[in-house]
Amino acid sequence: MTSPQSMWPTWLPLREDLKNLSPYGAPQISGVLHLNTNENPFPLPQPVVEAISTRINQRIADLNRYPDRDAVLLREKLANYINLLSQTSFSKENVWAANGSNEVLQTLLLACGGPTSLALGFTPSYSVHPLIAQITATPWIAGFREPTFSLDIDAAVEKILTANPRLVFITTPNNPTGNVLPLADIFRIAEAAASISALLVVDEAYQEFSQEDSAVTLIGQFPNLVVTRTMSKAFAFAGARVGYLVASPEVIDAMFITRLPYHLSSLTQAAAEAALDNQELLQAEVQFLVSERQRMSSVMTKAGFSVVDSQANFLLFAGFPDSSSDTWKYFLDRGILIRDVGLAGFLRVTIGTVAENESFLTELLKLRP
Ligand SMILES: Cc1ncc(COP(=O)(O)O)c(C=O)c1O
Repeated sequence: MTSPQSMWPTWLPLREDLKNLSPYGAPQISGVLHLNTNENPFPLPQPVVEAISTRINQRIADLNRYPDRDAVLLREKLANYINLLSQTSFSKENVWAANGSNEVLQTLLLACGGPTSLALGFTPSYSVHPLIAQITATPWIAGFREPTFSLDIDAAVEKILTANPRLVFITTPNNPTGNVLPLADIFRIAEAAASISALLVVDEAYQEFSQEDSAVTLIGQFPNLVVTRTMSKAFAFAGARVGYLVASPEVIDAMFITRLPYHLSSLTQAAAEAALDNQELLQAEVQFLVSERQRMSSVMTKAGFSVVDSQANFLLFAGFPDSSSDTWKYFLDRGILIRDVGLAGFLRVTIGTVAENESFLTELLKLRP
């Protein structure tokens, strides 16, 4: 579905600035291998399925009532999870949860964005950031990454200070490139953002696949630092739609203003609570996916493709003879759905099961440069 400006009827008072937008989303095609949306390929283990079913069953009779509007238990469990990973001491006052980290970002931009604000990100990065900015009528400016996709930190700080945004976005590990920004560089960006009273939003959707310390460890020093996370990737929980942010209590207070009342259903809260109670089981495959990422990267590099150094559950690669769109189609014709992220000469593949990865590699190696 596309929506060029001329298609909208005159009786629909759609905002002028939205008329040229198309709905966001990767193709959803059945009967093919799904290596395009960075999901965890492993279904939930049976004991976790049972734990989630039990927890949901306990809540079903109460569906006549609205859910806990503040999702207190879930936020406590998320705070404990982060504390365990990062040796921090956050409480529910530092955590906000919503239907996926995309909703978290939208609620944040509703609070801190808008026409009189300005948001800055460094391209290429997660394309939903500028999209949510646009939807919330927040002007967006793009800084740029190096041709290798790393961030020149001095240039980034300079860009922040000259552009003077209210919000700065960093994704690490970055999507679609997979590379990380060292914590020392995030420190410098947080410092620059603080000096102009801007909020730094660090999107850590893929943090569990990375060796780098989380930016949550800097929140104590920088009250202007917000870290967004998701259960969609490492927790294999994309279908449940649970994302969250970790931040200073004042940020959480602001989220209470712009969230919709009862935004997180009782069933979602129950499922996420049970998932967090079973976090080791749910994340049992994370290390395996990391080792598969390393194995695939090495096979692809040895075959002559260039592969961006990734600490996420996907790889961005180049070196195939035809265009990205033709090569994307080549894979699709062979039953493998990967992602054309709009970077000329590059494609992105999600790490799947061994069988899925082997199918991908078999077809890729036929394109050996
Ligand atoms: C960098 C980044 N942030 C956020 C998200 C959104 O995740 P969620 O499923 O929690 O909305 C994604 C999803 O792919 C992502 O790549």
